[in-house]
This record gives sequence, structure tokens and C-alpha cells, in this order.
Amino acid sequence: MAAHLVIAIDGPAASGKSSVARALARRLGFVYVNTGAMYRAITWLAVSKGVPTADTGRVQQLLHFTEITCGVADGESTILLDGVDPTPHLVGDEVNANVSAIATIPEVRRILTAKQRAYAGEHDIVMEGRDIGSAVFPETPYKFYIDASPEVRARRRASQGLQDSVAARDKVDSTRRTSPLVIAEDAHVIDSSNLTIDGVAGEIVGRLKLKGLVIGDR
Ligand code: DC
Repeated sequence: MAAHLVIAIDGPAASGKSSVARALARRLGFVYVNTGAMYRAITWLAVSKGVPTADTGRVQQLLHFTEITCGVADGESTILLDGVDPTPHLVGDEVNANVSAIATIPEVRRILTAKQRAYAGEHDIVMEGRDIGSAVFPETPYKFYIDASPEVRARRRASQGLQDSVAARDKVDSTRRTSPLVIAEDAHVIDSSNLTIDGVAGEIVGRLKLKGLVIGDR
């Protein structure tokens, strides 16, 4: 059982969940935890060390010899790999192309899931990803699934200047064997296609209040 409050936000790539999760965390004074960045960090590590992401054994070995330090700065999650901050590399083409493959590896998921759970021992959190409500914190009563139409998602990605094959990633993320992207049974689904970030965050706050959560809405 998590010691602190956990708001789980899942959804496919470019559904708007990162922006919503960040805005919501600021509004509530919770820590924003971006789990996609953790999978991206491990992907960058493998790519930069020349380890093929399909070589599960070598990826696992690499992980066991790397110190992964997760923390918080300015209300947001941080990650260091052997003391190096991978943030500048996380949305590069190579990471985009390989992150779904890395995320299929059960040992990668096991290690990162443990680090994700540890956040709730220290902070109230808004955590976003693919399996937060279904696998990382299945016991939290506060689960949201953010979706958007394929057209809107492609447009959002392009407006960020990113050439990311979102559809291909979603297919791998939804069909992998370990903790695939699913809508948790008790998640509240929000279609963000025609909503602003604040609109979605507002809907979530309304829902949390309905569920009886007493929050310091800023
Ligand atoms: O949220 P994002 O697009 O930055 O995530 C990058 C990839 O990481 C995504 O395609 C699948 C993987 N991922 C995951 O498997 N589980 C999570 N909780 C978060 C991300």
C-alpha cells in the first residue's frame, strides 16, 4: 500500500497525458513523475553504449552494472545513470525508434516499477505512463486514462517538431506480454481531442473531489 496519494494517468503516445499530468501536479502541489522518461533513459543508455535493444541479455547486464538514481527536482521526477543526466537525449530519433522494444523486457520493467513505487513512499504523486493504474499502482482509487483521436495525436506530435512513429509504438506498447497499455477496469476515461490541458486537468480535479479526495486545489 502506498504511503502517499497516487494519481495514475495512462494513455497512448501524444494523447496529451504528460502536459495534463504536469499541470495537475502543479495545481495540487504533488510531485509529477514521468515514467516514459525512465524507459527513454534506459533506451538512451543502451543505444549510447552500442547495446542492441533486441539483445535482452546484454540490456539486462548493462542495467545491473549501471547505477540508476531517481529523485525529485522542482516538483518533477529526475533520473541519473551513473551520475549522468540523460534528459537532453530522450526525444532523439534513436530513442523514439527503440524505446518500445526496451519496454518489452520484463527485467527492465521490474527494475523501473520498483523505482516508480518508491516515489509514493516519499511524496504525493501524479504519475503518468502506460501501466500505472493497471500494474504499478493497481490499488490506487484515482486512475485516469487519457485518449485523443489519431489525427489529433499526430498533429500534436508534429507541432512539437517531432517525427515520431506514434502508431508503431502504440502497437508494440499495447500488444507486449508484460504490462501492456490497457485501460484499467476502474479508470475514468477522458477524450482530450477537443479539450485544453487545463480542461482535462479540471475534469480530473472534479472527479477527484467527487471521489471524496480533499485536495488543496491551487
Ligand atoms: O510516454 P512516452 O511516450 O515518453 O513513453 C515512451 C515509451 O516508454 C512508450 O512508447 C512505452 C514505454 N513506457 C512504458 O512501457 N510504460 C510506461 N509506464 C511508460 C512508458
